[in-house]
Amino acid sequence: MTIKQTIKKYNHELKEVTHIPSKEIEILIMYLLDKNIIWLHLNYDKEFEKENELQKIVKKRATHYPIEYIIGKASFYGEQFLTCEQVLIPRPETEILVDKAKDILENIQNPKVIEIGTGSGIISVMLALLIDNIKITAIDINDKALELAQKNAIKFKVDHKIDFIKSDLFDNVSEVNYDMCISNPPYIANNYKLPYNVKFEPGNALFGGEVGDELLNNIISITYESNIKYLCCEMGYDQREPLAKLLKSLKSKKIEFYKDYSDFDRGFCVEFNK
Ligand SMILES: C[S@@+](CC[C@H](N)C(=O)[O-])C[C@H]1O[C@@H](n2cnc3c(N)ncnc32)[C@H](O)[C@@H]1O
Repeated sequence: MTIKQTIKKYNHELKEVTHIPSKEIEILIMYLLDKNIIWLHLNYDKEFEKENELQKIVKKRATHYPIEYIIGKASFYGEQFLTCEQVLIPRPETEILVDKAKDILENIQNPKVIEIGTGSGIISVMLALLIDNIKITAIDINDKALELAQKNAIKFKVDHKIDFIKSDLFDNVSEVNYDMCISNPPYIANNYKLPYNVKFEPGNALFGGEVGDELLNNIISITYESNIKYLCCEMGYDQREPLAKLLKSLKSKKIEFYKDYSDFDRGFCVEFNK
C-alpha cells in the first residue's frame, strides 16, 4: 500500500478526536519514517512499510491520547519543543504571555527573571532566545518537568542562561532578587470536568485549587512581598474580576489585562510601585 492509500485508509479512525484526521495521519507517518513534510509531499506514491506500527499509534490516538505525547514534540512560538508524559503540552495562547514579557524586558538591561511552574520550559527558553543578557531561574515542583525543560534549554543552546530549581513557589530559592516574575500556573477549579484529551495531562499542572485562582493569588502576594517589580501571568477566562480586585489592593503603577486569540480574558501584566 502506498503512503497516499495509507492516509486514506486510516484517517476515518481519527475523525472523532480531531478535525484534521488526514493531517494527523500524515504527522504520524512522518514521525515513524523520521521524514519532513517536503519529503512526504514528494513521496505519496511510495510504498509504506510500517503499517503495523502506524496501526498501533492510530489506535492510541483514537483514545484521545495527545499526538504531542506520541511524537514527542509540539510547536510553540514557531519552534519545535520536546514533550513528554506527565508534563503539560504547550498551548498557543502562552505565546501571548511571552510577547507581553518580552515587551517589558527589552527595556531592562541584564534582566533577571523567575518563572514559577516552568513545565516543558517553553516560556523560559523563548525568553532566553529573545532577550540578550537575560538570567532566568525556572522553578517547578515536578521532577519530570524540570528534566524536560533542561533538555529543551540544551536543545536551543540557552541552558547557560537558565537555572532550574525544584521548588514549591519560592521555598528553595535562596536569594529572591528579580526584575520580573512570570507564570502560567495551574488555574482550573479542582472540580472542573476536563475534555478527553486534557485528561492525559498532569493534574498538578492544571488544577489551581477549589476556586481555581488560589495559586495565582499566592503568586501575586509573594511577588509583591519579594519586591519584584513586574509580574506577568496567564489566568482563566473568568478570573479577571477577583484578580483585578486583589491587584488593585496593592500599590501598583500599571495593571494591564490581555485577551487570547479567541478574545477571552487570558492574563495580566502588572508593574508594582515599590
Ligand atoms: C500550566 S503548567 C505551565 C507549564 C509551562 N510553563 C507552560 O506554559 O506550558 C503549570 C506548571 O506549574 C507547576 N506547579 C504547580 N504548582 C506549583 C508550585 N506550587 N510551585 C512551582 N511550580 C508549580 C506544575 O508542575 C506545572 O509544570
